[in-house]
Amino acid sequence: MTSTHQDKICIITGATAGIGKEAASNLASMGFTLGLVGRNPDKISSTLSEIQFATGNEHVTFFQADLSLMEDVRRLAVEIQSKFDKIDVLLNNAGAYISEFGKTREGFENTFALNHLSYFLLTDLLLDTLKATPNSRIVNVASNAHLNTHLDFDNLQGFNGYKGWPAYCKSKLCNIMFTYELARRLEGSSTTANCLHPGFVKTNFGNNNKRSVRMSLGAAKALGAISIKKGAETSIYLASSDEVEGVNGKYFDKCKTKDSSTQSYVIEDQQRLWNISEQLLS
Ligand SMILES: NC(=O)c1ccc[n+]([C@@H]2O[C@H](COP(=O)([O-])OP(=O)(O)OC[C@H]3O[C@@H](n4cnc5c(N)ncnc54)[C@H](OP(=O)(O)O)[C@@H]3O)[C@@H](O)[C@H]2O)c1
Repeated sequence: MTSTHQDKICIITGATAGIGKEAASNLASMGFTLGLVGRNPDKISSTLSEIQFATGNEHVTFFQADLSLMEDVRRLAVEIQSKFDKIDVLLNNAGAYISEFGKTREGFENTFALNHLSYFLLTDLLLDTLKATPNSRIVNVASNAHLNTHLDFDNLQGFNGYKGWPAYCKSKLCNIMFTYELARRLEGSSTTANCLHPGFVKTNFGNNNKRSVRMSLGAAKALGAISIKKGAETSIYLASSDEVEGVNGKYFDKCKTKDSSTQSYVIEDQQRLWNISEQLLS
């Protein structure tokens, strides 16, 4: 185990599978102390043993939370802050494509709650700790899926006509607009916020849906998806590389900055999304 990041603490959501788990394992190898978030106790236990065995890093703690429930996000933030007195990196990664409409017991649409509100709320609740940690980083896993969509503020949660894939794409646009607004609010501090597209990656992504959706996504993955190892590279880069120290408010793909969609840069829309999210969570 190398020791270049020995004193750094990184929180990763969605660390029991796919990109999040791969990033966790890599960052553990670099010496990071990890606070990992999972929802399933069996997967938490097996992932913890796997990462510790593979990397020899014992400084790995798991927290259990269903991130589509804001009461769980609030409890999680308290648990993280009672375990760690600083946070160097927050990697908001947990997300899903949910093909059918559904609401959480708190009344939020499932995709919007998990993919957007959990990033927004967890970051907000950990922000004071992040800002008190010199050169800390917030990294939000978004997607190029945002490129061909637009936020409709009158139907943000799809209550008035839900379609699974468009809802997913919009939630990923939310990740980017949230990042840009957050980055502006962080100016003058040493904390940065960036977001990324990981590529089309051979993970469990979409496997929570009905058979027909799993089959078509599975066929597309077999034809064109990259490995999980490759898909985690930009997340690992943004969490750990010296090259991005001080870089703030950018969208990355293959470890390089790139432009996101036109609407993502509209400051008025970023602020509107921020204000609505705040109101929904108040
Ligand atoms: N795969 C792609 O092609 C692709 C492309 C662009 C962007 N992305 C983004 O990459 C991120 C990671 O996705 P992935 O491809 O690695 O998918 P994945 O293999 O399905 O992993 C998703 C992770 O999120 C966790 N998760 C899902 N719902 C949760 C909930 N309600 N509460 C807590 N944790 C939850 C999962 O937990 P379990 O292990 O319990 O299921 C898992 O650890 C997502 O934000 C996704 O939008 C993926």
